[in-house]
Amino acid sequence: MDKPAILVTRAVFPDVLERLAQHFEVESNQDDRIFAEDELAHRLRGKAGVFTTPTERVTARVIAANPALRAICNMAVGYNNIDVDAATRAGVIVTNTPDVLNETTADFAWALLLATARRVTEAERWLRAGKWDKWRFDTLLGADVHGSTLGIVGMGRIGQAIARRSAGFDMRVIYHNRSRLAPDIEAHANHAQYVSKEELLRSADHVLLALPYTPQSHHAIGAAELALMKRTATLVNIARGGIVDDAALIAALRAGRIAAAGLDVFENEPAFDPGFLTLSNVVLTPHIGSATEPTRRAMANCAADNLIAALTGGNPPNILNPQLQSRE
Ligand code: GLV
Repeated sequence: MDKPAILVTRAVFPDVLERLAQHFEVESNQDDRIFAEDELAHRLRGKAGVFTTPTERVTARVIAANPALRAICNMAVGYNNIDVDAATRAGVIVTNTPDVLNETTADFAWALLLATARRVTEAERWLRAGKWDKWRFDTLLGADVHGSTLGIVGMGRIGQAIARRSAGFDMRVIYHNRSRLAPDIEAHANHAQYVSKEELLRSADHVLLALPYTPQSHHAIGAAELALMKRTATLVNIARGGIVDDAALIAALRAGRIAAAGLDVFENEPAFDPGFLTLSNVVLTPHIGSATEPTRRAMANCAADNLIAALTGGNPPNILNPQLQSRE
């Protein structure tokens, strides 16, 4: 029997492509050109499955143009790049890669929080610019992390992994989430305390965003929310661009309305607002929260596992539209 045809939209580990090639006719893109909507729709003609990354937008139009499509398997935990409702209506399975990246992404959240609060990248730029001519009592004073209050917005698996790490810094953790967690999960997350979003913004010394991007979380942090935060507070976004209103954040950072921000994600990335480059009190990284070799491998293999299961009659482990799950 002919192998089903699939498209792998971006460059990926060669051994993962080899794995996929054991099951499928694979069209790959190791040149790593980004496919815009029309080209993606065109390349998917006749394909049964697609291995995607956060850079492709799999819209209702792309799905409607490809009636042979049966599975969209995203190499990311976030899936705001895929119209899951349109896929479900068309009977197309959608999967993501949860769990395998929790600890790595939580490590990175801490890297960004510490770098932001203690002005690490600003200090390095200052040193490299030859400005370090003497020790001074007030050079590059930052904010303490230990003993402070950490406010986590979005207490899913990654938020909980971030919270657990805060015990080592003797921090109090408050969180806001769509729903309150069970008491044993709160206890395991450094005894995190559920509060309203307003209380979190008012009380936290460090606000950390770890929530999914949905129409409801679009601009969840805008001018009004930034105005509630302490002037000494830091804001860290490891989740998705669009959760923060970047123009409002730039205005707040410029005005000293909050102390600093650490951002791994941006609206319209990689074409982020150049206003950020004019500010010294922001740490900027290029969407690398899950970027370690073992974790990116685990994510790629997880997406491949999902695609193989979806197209060979199995149950993909990470299905996002379980109503399409085949019954065993
Ligand atoms: C990366 O941003 C992911 O969602 O996994």
